[in-house]
Amino acid sequence: MPSPGPRTAPWSELTAHATRLGTVATHELFARDPGRFERFSREGAGILMDFSRQHLDEMVLAKLDELAEAVGLREYREAMWRGEKINATEGRAVLHVALRQPAGARIGGTEIAREVFEERERMLTFAENVRSGRILGSSGKPFNRVVNIGIGGSDLGPAMAVRALHPYTLDAPRCEFVSNVDGNRLSDILKDADPRSTLFIVSSKTFTTLETLTNARTARAWLRDKLGEEAVREHFAAVSVNHRAMDEFGVHPEHRFKMWDWVGGRYSMWSSIGVSLAIAIGREGFLAFLAGGHEMDEHFRTAHWHENLPALMGLIGVWNINFQMLPTLAVLPYDERLGRLPAYLQQLEMESNGKSVSLEGRRVEWQTAAVIWGEPGNNAQHSFFQLLHQGTPRAALDLLLPAKSSCDHQAQQDLAIANCLAQAEAFMAGLPADAVRADLERAQLPPERIEALTPHKVHPGSRPSTLIAFPRLDPGTLGRLVALYEHKVFTQGVIWGINSFDQWGVELGKKLAEQLAPSVRDPDGAPAASAGVAKVIARLAGWRAQP
Ligand code: F6P
Repeated sequence: MPSPGPRTAPWSELTAHATRLGTVATHELFARDPGRFERFSREGAGILMDFSRQHLDEMVLAKLDELAEAVGLREYREAMWRGEKINATEGRAVLHVALRQPAGARIGGTEIAREVFEERERMLTFAENVRSGRILGSSGKPFNRVVNIGIGGSDLGPAMAVRALHPYTLDAPRCEFVSNVDGNRLSDILKDADPRSTLFIVSSKTFTTLETLTNARTARAWLRDKLGEEAVREHFAAVSVNHRAMDEFGVHPEHRFKMWDWVGGRYSMWSSIGVSLAIAIGREGFLAFLAGGHEMDEHFRTAHWHENLPALMGLIGVWNINFQMLPTLAVLPYDERLGRLPAYLQQLEMESNGKSVSLEGRRVEWQTAAVIWGEPGNNAQHSFFQLLHQGTPRAALDLLLPAKSSCDHQAQQDLAIANCLAQAEAFMAGLPADAVRADLERAQLPPERIEALTPHKVHPGSRPSTLIAFPRLDPGTLGRLVALYEHKVFTQGVIWGINSFDQWGVELGKKLAEQLAPSVRDPDGAPAASAGVAKVIARLAGWRAQP
């Protein structure tokens, strides 16, 4: 097994390059090489990735290429495609790429390919039947409202995609998403939902997730009260590996869709977990989404590292995290409809690579996943860009930018483009004191005012950003973007020598919550887990008891 990145020669040489570049401002790199855009931008699978404003040069890029080879990225990639159990701690293959393979391909082998096609057809037929009204509720009405009940990977992907592809959903039932256990979202939906035309989809790979089962049971009780127990079969669908649980819940056998243990939850929106998306955008839209993902797969599988967008994105991320010491990445889409992309990427990146123990079972001595956060870029300009420009913490930035408006207001999208590119330039170049002073002198401020104000108006610059631009936000492009980030995450996991596909860190909290629930319900009855918690529970119970 190849060594993790930090134990390879290219890694030590990258440390020296970071020192070499440490005293150089990024705008200086542009001054030295005006052709940076040509040298540090790539197009692949319909996406332009402009990383010319990253704090690197040709020597760093060449060394990052060597790093990819040194960690065996090629071998690990091929092992994933062959269906080897690279999710070592769970003894599972990792084959989300098989979910989006085209007809005739055999990714994962003949049996897996057959199952994927069969299940895809079943799911798409169901989605089209819901859309067309061939499938009806118990009272004979078609469904005009679909409520997906799930959380994490059984929610974030479809929810993000339905919003991102809103223009493609206008002739479909309204698709909504319920996830948190507090019940507020579900309560808001049930207040004005017509039970006769509402379909619930319980999405849960395990069908044991507390939040999902709690919300599903509440929805089930509501429907039973409105339409009777026998209506459950017609008004619930489910996606899971757990057939026994679906039996117990009473899900119609024809309204059940398969999951496989070789698909991680955060990689599952390509499977029947995406049934709400398929209902929203239809068969053709969903197939275009899959095709976009597959196109990016083929690019990642075949392009050389220095042309390979996902590999480059992963390598540059390692450069920023491990050599530029930037522990967070802000994802800033300049398209309101990608507003939930940062949340989706939080699970994809941080549940995959938020690890501190290596594949060898030893605590790592290097940083791993960055904290992922973000907002639509234009909003962010009016909320946290002050910190990004002049604050003490520094962040790496991903700016996502469609060329075409998806609401026929191109003049407004052009303003979004201008803002996005202006911010990228400002983050890179900053505004030095002499330029600030010149501006203030042109404004004819008195000298003492100029001296007082100048330090406050200086922008340090050298904030690294990557621009990810594409023609328009359509199903194919969204598939390419999601697969781009999936393979970026894979690349980084290989470099850090960690397992990107398990998630042991989510178990402890769930277990403690189960232990605490009885004492929250009945503070005097059940013993609280700890004195500190008992006092809080008692105080909350006091408030809860008040009218
Ligand atoms: O957050 C833990 C987790 O297991 C995620 O990995 C998963 O996407 C989510 O919970 C939901 O799990 P399930 O689909 O089994 O309900």
